[in-house]
Amino acid sequence: MSVARNTVKATLAALGAVAAAVPLAACGREEPDLSNGKAQFVQRCGSCHALSRAGTQGQTAPDLDAAFRAALRAGENRDTVEGVVREQIANVRKSSVMPPNLVRGDDARDVAAYVAFATDKPGEDQGALAQAGLEGATSGEQIFVAAGCGSCHELAKAGTSGTIGPSLDDLASAAGEREPGTSAEEYVGQAILDPDAFTVDGFQSGVMPSYEGRLDERQVQTLVDYLLGR
Ligand code: HEC
Ligand code: HEC
Repeated sequence: MSVARNTVKATLAALGAVAAAVPLAACGREEPDLSNGKAQFVQRCGSCHALSRAGTQGQTAPDLDAAFRAALRAGENRDTVEGVVREQIANVRKSSVMPPNLVRGDDARDVAAYVAFATDKPGEDQGALAQAGLEGATSGEQIFVAAGCGSCHELAKAGTSGTIGPSLDDLASAAGEREPGTSAEEYVGQAILDPDAFTVDGFQSGVMPSYEGRLDERQVQTLVDYLLGR
């Protein structure tokens, strides 16, 4: 089956019709876990999509606050948004750069529920939800994964295998050699905060987002130490 779906608006209309016809469809399901949804979103989706409450700033894909704003203000409800997000995760249009089924099962349900909860909602997440995702990440590995580094970089000790950027497995030995006069530690810090300052041979600049303002100083230092194996 091919799902031709070009605009959120069209899907909203379609799902709205289904929801109206089968009102019981949404009942009896387990409550989604918003904290898991946020953590998964930050890790799997945030490198491409901005979503203010999740603190993600990806710029290669639609801003997910803006994406649903008009529909919400026109009176569409958040359950409908949840349906659109689930649909998008499972049925990405052919040739989209968005990989299909990045999250599955309960994770897909949780991500969709979190996006529906958070989209175009002023303020900040509170309580346990505030600690889900990047803000609550403290160890080097947690930060690396929650910041979405692994979607572009291979790093065996974090269990990631991204190929858009260079493998970071040998960074500890390579970092000190990259830029004459720049120490390994300075180089990695700069790669994270100002990625366009240097470009690794064979890779494109302008692809890696800057983490300036997204990671605090302590998180950057923890990440640098982790990547350099210290
Ligand atoms: C590699 C980049 C990338 C990743 C990762 C990604 N997306 Fe997307 N996404 C896109 C692009 C590009 C579009 C634009 C429409 C298209 O290509 O189908 C899109 C469209 C969407 C839309 C529809 C928005 C609109 O305005 O049409 C939703 C909802 C969405 N993505 C949710 C997600 C969720 C949830 C995840 C994580 C499970 C995710 N995306 C991961 C690139 C990405
Ligand atoms: C959207 C993809 C993407 C994401 C997300 C991303 N990077 Fe990158 N990264 C790249 C690309 C592409 C390069 C090579 C081009 C360049 O140097 O800017 C790179 C280069 C680097 C380098 C230099 C590597 C070398 O061999 O000299 C480091 C270090 C690095 N990234 C760390 C990180 C960390 C840490 C994160 C998460 C906080 C991250 N990256 C997130 C794409 C990404």
